[in-house]
Amino acid sequence: MKKTWSPHAGNAVGRTYKLRGESLGSPLIAAQSVGRTKGTVEGKKRILSIRDLSISFQTSNGTVNVIRGMNLDLYKGETVAIVGESGSGKSVTVKAVMGILSGNGRINSGTIDFTYEKDGAEISLDLLKLSKKEIRRQINGKHIAMVFQDPMTSLNPTMTVGAQIMEGMMYHYGTSRKAARARAIELLELVGITDPDKRMKNYPHQLSGGMRQRVVIAIALACDPDLLICDEPTLDVTIQAKILELIKEIQAKTGISVIYITHDLGVVAKVADYVEVMYAGKVIEKGTTEEIFFEPKHPYTWGLLSAMPDLSSADDRLYNIPGSPPNLLHQVEGDSFAPRNIYALNIDFKQEPPMFRISDTHFAATWLLHEKAPKIEMPDALMKRIETMRQENGLEGTSVVSVPGSKEAVHHG
Ligand SMILES: Nc1ncnc2c1ncn2[C@@H]1O[C@H](COP(=O)(O)OP(=O)(O)OP(=O)(O)O)[C@@H](O)[C@H]1O
Ligand SMILES: [Mg+2]
Repeated sequence: MKKTWSPHAGNAVGRTYKLRGESLGSPLIAAQSVGRTKGTVEGKKRILSIRDLSISFQTSNGTVNVIRGMNLDLYKGETVAIVGESGSGKSVTVKAVMGILSGNGRINSGTIDFTYEKDGAEISLDLLKLSKKEIRRQINGKHIAMVFQDPMTSLNPTMTVGAQIMEGMMYHYGTSRKAARARAIELLELVGITDPDKRMKNYPHQLSGGMRQRVVIAIALACDPDLLICDEPTLDVTIQAKILELIKEIQAKTGISVIYITHDLGVVAKVADYVEVMYAGKVIEKGTTEEIFFEPKHPYTWGLLSAMPDLSSADDRLYNIPGSPPNLLHQVEGDSFAPRNIYALNIDFKQEPPMFRISDTHFAATWLLHEKAPKIEMPDALMKRIETMRQENGLEGTSVVSVPGSKEAVHHG
């Protein structure tokens, strides 16, 4: 029998959530007890593990090293948000996962281990060892699905919405037309499209932008993927909250894992369990959402948080991190953030900092965390903002993060 909405989802749901319920009381506490280095942690299964990834592009100006030792872990049923300024390498990283780097890209080193279930068995493979053809046949659309920024780039203007949702199921699983159709209607309903029967026959141009993005999500979910990657999906503010909720609901039902890339830290607070902060081609701070919002350690993260729009303040000028990221055509000497870091130490210009451990889940690459470094506190203005966020979120240590600009708080776990 072909996989329909949920064979793997069905048996995974109860298990994942029960485990989460039992072991992750408050995410803060749970997070600290979870070492994120092993394949299985407290019953959590790691589905994606990127190690030491480095990628360069050949350009007319020379070789640009855009990904410089990227690491990332993702566990089943969890959402990781990747944040960082434009050009930090977020899209290139996920494109490498999907095997869709552009022709001038080259993987210089690293592994991308992906684990999924097939017919009840667990399969682990290094995606970088597969050919583009194998990735297309076995993985993309089936086990890993991606939602891009612009829904029109992923939709075929000459095919009806229904045919596009049905296509993957028929191709990957040989689902019958009839079953695929029934499932497509179910999916359209799931993503909140009314009159799905009628909508099936529409072409993309007949739909509003918001509806198109929902269709793209329906297509992404059609083959019941294990991993959903959303790279800055442009969501109309009016439907954004609904879509984010939808992703969470689907996650609760199916145990799907999600990588969510966005510039909007309000969205991060809503969807993410963990946050990876990227700068110049690598992760420079990572932690649970609470750790990143409430106890950020890297001056770059301080800058990103300070740049968040503050709705409660009359002053609507946005803070910008002064300076610009390094030119990766050239070798980076020391800490890539040093030239923009007002707290930089001498060593920052000579030697790259390692990831210093703050908790089992929280790491940051800045020499300021070295025991011999001068004790530097985050800027006062940011400390005040965080204090306000904490108060708005109730008592310290609760499982809720909401930031200015996102009205409702999110409960994790
Ligand atoms: N095909 C390419 N050829 C040359 N350089 C590229 C290519 N694709 C990406 N880059 C460069 O790689 C770096 C990382 O790009 P990437 O698209 O991953 O950034 P990003 O973090 O997704 O930024 P944004 O937030 O703007 O989407 C950028 O400097 C970009 O110019
Ligand atoms: Mg991008």
